[in-house]
Amino acid sequence: MREDQEGRHGHCPLGRREVVLGGAALLVAPVGGAEAADNERRPRAGDVLVHSMGPKKGAPLRLEDLPLGGPGVLAFPRDEASGTVLDGSRFNEVVVVRLDPATLGEETRKGAAEGIVVYSAICSHEACPVNMWNDHEKTLVCSCHGSMYDPREKAAVVFGPAPRRLAQLPIKLEGGVLVATGPFDGRVGAVRAA
Ligand code: FES
Repeated sequence: MREDQEGRHGHCPLGRREVVLGGAALLVAPVGGAEAADNERRPRAGDVLVHSMGPKKGAPLRLEDLPLGGPGVLAFPRDEASGTVLDGSRFNEVVVVRLDPATLGEETRKGAAEGIVVYSAICSHEACPVNMWNDHEKTLVCSCHGSMYDPREKAAVVFGPAPRRLAQLPIKLEGGVLVATGPFDGRVGAVRAA
């Protein structure tokens, strides 16, 4: 088995493109399938989350940057000792969503802060970006084959071909910014037969 297969690189930022409903409408070009050349370390406790794109690119993500109820915002971890943004690997990109804390499942809440949840932005099917949002269902959506993940329940798969949930990155709010409190709680990316 090989892990962490690289998928397409196209970005469709959450917040700019909202999906109405239905996986079929989401079908786009097939996955490229190239393997990631990746020496970047993964997120860990103490990393600050920063915007991965847009006018605030590189700036710490703050509570006020996150609309309550979605859509999400894409981010990368930043190593606080060196100030380096860990964007050398797309497998470090995460999607950050702010929801009503009362709607979060018990296990999800353990890694959340004030309703904010953070998940890997890499689909478990063929490693495409999970960078779209279904505002009706309040789900994260993969840009390739429309798999949908429920951010209130550990990003469990609720639609589509994805075989497993997205890994959650536990966080806290510290001085108004988001800080990781540990590593991803599961595997990131897709797994395919060699
Ligand atoms: S890569 Fe196929 S659903 Fe995400």
